[in-house]
Amino acid sequence: MAYNKILIHLGVIAVCLCLFIDCGPKKSSNGKATIVDGHEKGLKDYYMDYFKMGVAVSPRSLNDSSQSALITSHFNSITAENVMKMGPIHPKESEYNWGLADEVLAYAEQHNLMLRGHTLCWHNQTPDWLFLDDSKAQVTKEFLLGRLEDHIKNVAGRYKGKIYAWDVVNEAISDSKDEFYRNSLWYQICGEEYLIKAFQLARQYAPDATLFYNDYNVIDPVKADKIVKMISDLRQKGAPIDGIGIQGHWSVYEPSRDQLIATLERFKPLNLDIHITELDISIYTKEHKRRDKLETDNDTFTAELEQLQVQEYKMIFEVFRQYKNDISSITFWNISDRRSWLDNFPVRGRKNYPLLFDQEDKPKKAFQEVVGF
Ligand code: GLA
Repeated sequence: MAYNKILIHLGVIAVCLCLFIDCGPKKSSNGKATIVDGHEKGLKDYYMDYFKMGVAVSPRSLNDSSQSALITSHFNSITAENVMKMGPIHPKESEYNWGLADEVLAYAEQHNLMLRGHTLCWHNQTPDWLFLDDSKAQVTKEFLLGRLEDHIKNVAGRYKGKIYAWDVVNEAISDSKDEFYRNSLWYQICGEEYLIKAFQLARQYAPDATLFYNDYNVIDPVKADKIVKMISDLRQKGAPIDGIGIQGHWSVYEPSRDQLIATLERFKPLNLDIHITELDISIYTKEHKRRDKLETDNDTFTAELEQLQVQEYKMIFEVFRQYKNDISSITFWNISDRRSWLDNFPVRGRKNYPLLFDQEDKPKKAFQEVVGF
């Protein structure tokens, strides 16, 4: 009897505590974010004990009141979507465009958000002048490495102490089965030396940032194995690589739970920090995999696709939470379905709906699943 009474008392105390303090996420029936202590409870609050929650932003989005409200209520980290890339920030050899990148930094500081740097060395959105000398002939390795130093010294150096993590090198691994490194101009001119140098320079000029290798399509086991091998080799050769960036441009059809877990298990033995750097869940099949489906895809976000997206988001966040000791940050690539880089890409004129917020910047059903754990 006494034992039963104790149990009842304990039960009453637990209920009271739950009413008094916040016991997990509360979903409101109208799909709007819950109000906690006068603030909307955002993604970053639900995930406080798990990961930093980030989003890629353009300077224009920062000046849009509705988008800015989403950024500040749901995220605690931002990445410049484009304006810190080599082409935009360093258009000519002796010219840097600091204005827009500085705006992103100022916004982060004003709103107490952390800033991820993206990206110091990539084959895309990279200016042509970089690889050419005055007579328009291709530069030598020494010359190109000198330019790389100049770039990293100026960009990483300018934001030293302000950027907590840099995607130092983006997408250096080939997608093709028989090729290891992507045959970019960087690789053609420097071999793998540019990779080692890029990380060493980033460490030198941004000593307190964690340094990431960032890539897409890593759920392909062949590509993931190449990344693991490359990182192990480069670290042995003196490249200070601290983390792997999994871009996470996925779709409602993939990855499966098993694929995602297998990918994380492949990276785990490296003992590096993992960031999900560019998350979105396209509602379309990956074109390179299902060319036959291309014609049947149109830009209607049907109830069926919505449900598939809800399930995919729910599943990947379950897996992310399971790997919370390995993953420390998750960044979405764009803010809401109002604008995504996947609108018009890879199919011109086709809209996509890959994010957690809809075209009116309101939380979608997938949002409720992601926070409802
Ligand atoms: C890659 C890059 C990003 C961005 C996306 C498309 O994933 O890393 O910077 O360009 O493509 O927006």
